[in-house]
Amino acid sequence: MIKLENVSKKYGNNVVLDNLNINFNSGEFISIMGPSGSGKSTILNIIGAMDKPDSGKVIINNEEINRFNEEELTLFRKKHVGFIFQFFNLFNNLTVFENVQIPLLISGLKEQDSIEEILTSLNICDKL
Ligand SMILES: Nc1ncnc2c1ncn2[C@@H]1O[C@H](COP(=O)(O)OP(=O)(O)OP(=O)(O)O)[C@@H](O)[C@H]1O
Ligand SMILES: [Mg+2]
Repeated sequence: MIKLENVSKKYGNNVVLDNLNINFNSGEFISIMGPSGSGKSTILNIIGAMDKPDSGKVIINNEEINRFNEEELTLFRKKHVGFIFQFFNLFNNLTVFENVQIPLLISGLKEQDSIEEILTSLNICDKL
């Protein structure tokens, strides 16, 4: 489902990923472990279409996303990627309802009701 082929990435002279090859299959739960600075976030950013490798292929659902332009990457992220960040990255000045609403509006959803349904399904409706 997700395949990295000979992926390399460096920042200046700092080689972070050196010809990395990994396969992630559908339905697998994977932990990436390693010391601070070893490149875990770099891998996640590349798989999540937030960053591009210097060389190598990133194949997700048979699409070579390393060839995508910015617009294609944006659409890909919107449709296929979910990130849970170390920090919550919520908008402090917006309500809980609005924080949930924003990505749904971007995805073209108009039904206000479904926001409560989503919060209920996640058992966090009390946060409203
Ligand atoms: N935008 C950047 N510019 C320059 N160097 C960077 C950048 N992002 C990461 N690095 C460097 O790349 C290396 C890998 O960083 P990365 O954030 O992927 O590590 P990590 O394994 O996620 O670390 P941590 O466990 O601390 O989160 C580090 O040496 C880091 O300093
Ligand atoms: Mg990290």
